[in-house]
Amino acid sequence: MTTETSPEMAEVVPGPNTQKAFRDALGRFATGVTVVTTHSEIGPLGITANSFASVSLDPPLVLWSPAKHSRRYHAFAEATDFAIHVIGEEQAEIASRFSRNGTAFDGCDWAPSDRGVPLLNGCLARFECSTVTTHDGGDHRIVIARVLRATWRDGAPLVFSQGQMGRFALPDDAD
Ligand SMILES: Cc1cc2nc3c(=O)[nH]c(=O)nc-3n(C[C@H](O)[C@H](O)[C@H](O)COP(=O)(O)O)c2cc1C
Repeated sequence: MTTETSPEMAEVVPGPNTQKAFRDALGRFATGVTVVTTHSEIGPLGITANSFASVSLDPPLVLWSPAKHSRRYHAFAEATDFAIHVIGEEQAEIASRFSRNGTAFDGCDWAPSDRGVPLLNGCLARFECSTVTTHDGGDHRIVIARVLRATWRDGAPLVFSQGQMGRFALPDDAD
């Protein structure tokens, strides 16, 4: 039995009128930040996403979830090939630009892959992917893909939590 006073907890039953509170609860889970890119009917397309997750080592599978309400949904849900770029802590500008605008490649260091997918250079890690299957996920679609090639460099990740982008700190890091 603990004698410590519990911190005050908020509680919500998720439903149509409590979406903001539900998001607040979900936002306690910190994630990295990625930019997913693909070749689309209108040319190179990107989107900032934090729904990325590793799934399997053998076979090498990852997932991410495009939102059905996004104007970019169909291009990404139907993409056979795409790339997932893990954003470094000094690259918040790239994450911001692709959250606002899917065609914001001007000024980015990028080149098409051998499969025509726009590849951003300089990110912390990059996964070149081929879609294996997609599943319905409520207001999102869950895209599961095989990783054809992984590229990475040393560095610290950009982190997203509670609606804000920030930095990863080790427990004894001085502020
Ligand atoms: C940190 C962060 C994470 C996001 N994660 C996702 C995601 O996983 N899936 C998604 O569809 N949109 C995600 N978004 C939203 C898109 O980046 C983009 O803002 C949204 O699609 C804009 O709407 P539009 O596509 O209609 O222009 C995220 C945005 C931010 C800032």
